[in-house]
Amino acid sequence: MKKVLIATEKPFSKQASDGIKELLQEKGHEVQVLEKYTDVNQLYEAVADVNAMIVRSDLVTKEVIAHAPNLEIVVRAGAGYDNIDLEAATQKEIVVENTPGQNSNAVAELVFGMLVMYIRKFYDGSTGTELMGKKLGIQGFGAVGRCVARIAKGFGMDVYALDTYVSEGFCEKAGVHYVTDVNDLYKTCQIISLHIPANSETVKSINYALLSKMPKNAILINTARAEVVDEEGLVEMFQNREDFGYIADVAPKNKDLIAEKFPKRFFFTPKKCGAQTSEANNNAGLAAAVQINNFFESGDKKYQVNP
Ligand code: 3PG
Repeated sequence: MKKVLIATEKPFSKQASDGIKELLQEKGHEVQVLEKYTDVNQLYEAVADVNAMIVRSDLVTKEVIAHAPNLEIVVRAGAGYDNIDLEAATQKEIVVENTPGQNSNAVAELVFGMLVMYIRKFYDGSTGTELMGKKLGIQGFGAVGRCVARIAKGFGMDVYALDTYVSEGFCEKAGVHYVTDVNDLYKTCQIISLHIPANSETVKSINYALLSKMPKNAILINTARAEVVDEEGLVEMFQNREDFGYIADVAPKNKDLIAEKFPKRFFFTPKKCGAQTSEANNNAGLAAAVQINNFFESGDKKYQVNP
């Protein structure tokens, strides 16, 4: 029997949380839940005797790991694992996994939810624009990017994808244009949707030099990570291009300045909610529980992300 902690500052739905517990308990594991915590000390205390953790965007820092001497595996119920100190985990021989693809559709649907609201002027009755025939650039053609392409085609958009890990043939099959140069993506597409992880190569990579290449009535959508956008460059773009708008599920640090100076040209969700659907909670949460069961049962590490 192992002890598994579900540590979610932003909780799963009750149904998902109950399902996770059931799957783990069926295999004889004990489950502890820490939800909506407000102080890192609560997390330090909760990890003290656990063997496994399921988290979402919760920060699993070196300090958290130091407070968890029995920890063997952390599963990030979701895609991005930039919230976990992989090096610290590897040092302690802790396996870190994610659950790729499980919450992708939810994020992709939010892209269009926010985009339609933005181009229809927040439904204020004034004349908006349409998506049909517009060029959409998808930066990062992983699980979320592919869902975005599928929906975009339903809207009749012309879709372009950039991803160094994806082949031309794959893009052809997906019915999207294959782009190899990031500058070409920004030059070509009026609307760009970001689906890249936050890492040393991508942080602040979406800068003014790139954004300023975008055609007229440019819109940048960010449901990935706030850090990938260079915030000074973003303000410069707002200042120099009156036609530019920014939509994000991950508000920038300078959101108050943007709100004050550039009203009606942005939308930021009050709390990151791309993956916050009942379906995504079930998919990612239950996958995490199954992965933990498999790890303890047979040593399976299929979704390991740390070396
Ligand atoms: C992810 O990386 O899976 C998404 O950003 C969702 O994050 P969340 O689980 O904190 O909602």
